[in-house]
Amino acid sequence: MAITLVIGAQWGDEGKGRIVDFLAAGADVVGRFGGGANAGHTVRVGDKTYKLRIVPSGVLAGALDCIIGPGTVVSLDQFVEELRSLGAAGIDVSRVWLSDLAHVLLPYHIEQDRAAERARGDAALGTTGNGIGPAYVDRVARRGMRAGDLRDRARVRAIVERRCAELAREGIGADAAAIVARIEEHGPMVVPHIRDTVALLHDALRAGKRVIAEGAQGALLDVTFGTYPYVTSSSTVAGGAGAGLGFGPTAVEHVIGVAKAYATRVGAGPFPSELLDDVGERMRERGAEYGTVTGRARRTGWIDTVALRYVAAVNGLTHLAITKLDVLDGFDQVCMCTGYDGAPDASLPFQMSAPVKPVLRRFAGWTQPTTGARAYGELPPQARAYLDALAADVGVPISYVSVGPERSQIIVREDAPAKALASRA
Ligand code: GDP
Ligand code: IMO
Ligand code: MG
Repeated sequence: MAITLVIGAQWGDEGKGRIVDFLAAGADVVGRFGGGANAGHTVRVGDKTYKLRIVPSGVLAGALDCIIGPGTVVSLDQFVEELRSLGAAGIDVSRVWLSDLAHVLLPYHIEQDRAAERARGDAALGTTGNGIGPAYVDRVARRGMRAGDLRDRARVRAIVERRCAELAREGIGADAAAIVARIEEHGPMVVPHIRDTVALLHDALRAGKRVIAEGAQGALLDVTFGTYPYVTSSSTVAGGAGAGLGFGPTAVEHVIGVAKAYATRVGAGPFPSELLDDVGERMRERGAEYGTVTGRARRTGWIDTVALRYVAAVNGLTHLAITKLDVLDGFDQVCMCTGYDGAPDASLPFQMSAPVKPVLRRFAGWTQPTTGARAYGELPPQARAYLDALAADVGVPISYVSVGPERSQIIVREDAPAKALASRA
């Protein structure tokens, strides 16, 4: 019972990276279980900002081993670039391990992703354009390449040539020789990081080490439970963690859902509590709500407890981490969407897709800045009233509250698992 899961509880960009960075100070192993370079996890340490796409955020806190798990799809170009830039910033990447079972995302996946978005026209999903969907399609269609295959040059060539020939018949040009040459060029940098991460993980668990599973995206972007088809192509919920790293449910101790004190979404799709007015604009500016990966402006709105109750159930959340509370400082009032008017009698993602009107519960705002608070009691009473109501409505305790992007700008409450994640030191 040694694994702590950190899951995005909204539509991604909740601040998972900074929460993992904080927890990783007391952990031995941090593993990413899904997605690829569609993720952008930002961590601020002092005046330095790190943006991680595929390498687990635990690498910054010096977690002993960082795993890019079997459930991920990894662009070698991106991986090599990230190792280089982290190395150049003085971060030790020698114990970043790429699972031999992870799938390799190839240049034609990116072409296919972008071509599919163009073909959708006005109905585009707003993907990050990183080839994620097509890479997962190839995995399921049993024609993908795994990182472990990179050790066998003939196998790499056979997979690429066969797939490029198929794509040519569909009118998509892909140069097999150039792709193989590029893979071989990356070999010396990538192959030393490839490892049986399942064995590594279970050796760590047997030795009583602390493990964090780092989610990417958010539960409402889950391919099954999210706002389909405006979702990503992987399982982003807690159940996806075991399937993406290779452990069973009995190994899980805590499931921490990370949510902003409000809500954002980047890309198309339903967002019942969206604000299209000055208040939403103010959230975007104060929260610097522009995507890490694509630079797109994020859509903003009030926190949605209908969605969070669903996410808490689907993930079995044991704790909430609420981030970016400081962004709401100075608002006259803050609201919480606690219901949908006019929602069809259907499961939640279907309800959200209908033209519903959010039912808002209103709270008094606070003028005093929260950025300096390091204990819950130091928050303005209005902010506490808002958070207390949020926890009661969702039915999950709020154990962490972040009040700024920097590592130290976090409030850890008495019941928080961080207290159990005893320091390695
Ligand atoms: P992730 O993908 O879930 O890791 O989240 P992102 O890194 O994409 O987006 C979160 C953004 O909010 C990043 O720019 C963080 O630096 C920033 N951030 C995280 N926590 C806080 C906070 O408590 N306050 C403020 N103002 N910014 C925060
Ligand atoms: P992190 O881990 C926010 C969104 C895209 C698009 C949809 C499908 O940083 O929270 P994809 O490229 O995955 O096929 O795009 O999912 N999306 C994210 N939104 N944060 C992310 O990751 C995201 N990863 C994918 O914007 O709507
Ligand atoms: Mg992000």
